Amino acid sequence: MASLMETISWIILFITLLGSSDASTPYRYNVIQFGAKPDGKSDSTGAFMKAWQSACNSGKSSTVYVPKGRYLLKATVFRGPCKKKISFRIDGTLWAPTNYWQLGNLGYWILFIKVNNLAVYGGNLDAKGAAFWACRKYGKSCPVGASSITFNWVDNLEVSGLRAINSQQTHLVINSCNNVLVKNVKITAPDDSPNTDGIHVQNSDRVTITGSTLQTGDDCISIGDATYNLYMSTIKCGPGHGVSIGSLAKERDERGVQNVTLTNAVFSGSDNGVRIKSWARASKGFVKNILFQNIIMKNVENPIIIDQNYCPNNQGCPNQSSGVKISDVTYKNIRGTSATAEAVTFDCSPSSPCQGIRLQDINLTYMNKAATSSCKHIGGTSTGNLVPESCL
Ligand SMILES: *[C@@H]1O[C@H](CO)[C@@H](O)[C@H](O)[C@H]1NC(C)=O
Ligand SMILES: *[C@@H]1O[C@H](CO)[C@@H](O)[C@H](O)[C@H]1NC(C)=O
Ligand SMILES: *[C@@H]1O[C@H](CO)[C@@H](O)[C@H](O)[C@H]1NC(C)=O
Repeated sequence: MASLMETISWIILFITLLGSSDASTPYRYNVIQFGAKPDGKSDSTGAFMKAWQSACNSGKSSTVYVPKGRYLLKATVFRGPCKKKISFRIDGTLWAPTNYWQLGNLGYWILFIKVNNLAVYGGNLDAKGAAFWACRKYGKSCPVGASSITFNWVDNLEVSGLRAINSQQTHLVINSCNNVLVKNVKITAPDDSPNTDGIHVQNSDRVTITGSTLQTGDDCISIGDATYNLYMSTIKCGPGHGVSIGSLAKERDERGVQNVTLTNAVFSGSDNGVRIKSWARASKGFVKNILFQNIIMKNVENPIIIDQNYCPNNQGCPNQSSGVKISDVTYKNIRGTSATAEAVTFDCSPSSPCQGIRLQDINLTYMNKAATSSCKHIGGTSTGNLVPESCL
């Protein structure tokens, strides 16, 4: 026997729910209603732009909705600022043009710029990079190549559940962003595809990357200059070139990398595990307060490496001494197998030796025997069980 008050509150609740679902519908902008065609052939770029403009200009927080299906998208810029919070919910697959010249020398395919309070949920991105990689491989005249999805100057960003395959270049770029959460992302490109990094972070503060699987032809995660307070957890990497801080010392005036953590990661068959690299050139850059911990290596070529004489293919090397100062780097609880005899390589700069390098509980074997380690221009401490023996 419901009292009158109870009945009234049920009615109020019912009206509230009705009201809220009513209120949410007008603020969902379905790209189909703006003319997008989920057939994988018709150019949906204009329709996506119109849906974005409407959502971005809305006085209420709103969602651009992409239903299931394949949408052909050319190079697209989603520009802010928007009036309120904005999100993309993508149940479908976005297809890049088959002809890579259509993205030309822009460097991006999908670009978000100056949009604060943005979320991207779901989405399959297929950049169809193979023709572009082949162009590069056979030394033909090729455009610069595009990153699949790039965020420039975006504060308060969440990217969740994204799947990206076969980017021409880096799959996901976080550039000049603050307060970012990337979670449950899966990125896949062939082992031998050139420069197809998984996620690149640079000039950004407070970025978290968690629960993600990265299988690429270049770095799984690459960390560029001016990255601060980056937290990476539960990461699977490989094939790929590992998780890399750098290359730094690209230029003299750099702003350094500080407070980076990688915890709970598995590297499988990757060229590197955890790597810090810089060109051998003068620089004001630095790398400090770094923690790599709870990591399993499975048949990794360079599980732990600092390379301050970075020089891929021995071409165009500056041949000087790196100015980048590397300090306070901790390697803790890292176990597994190395694919080469030398599992720990510290090749630091003669002019700016590495300082405060700490090794704790490392067990890396090569063909069922202890791997080896090598140290140059380095100071630090070691504790716990160490295989290979510390060279610090
Ligand atoms: C380091 O970064 C983490 C986030 O990864 C943050 O919680 C912590 O406060 C930062 N530490 C310092 C000393 O800034
Ligand atoms: C770098 O040094 C190597 C060995 O010292 C030398 O053979 C090479 O010519 C140098 N390259 C440049 C660009 O100076
Ligand atoms: C290192 O790992 C190997 C292979 O798993 C194991 O046999 C060995 O006991 C470990 N050594 C230490 C010191 O933990």
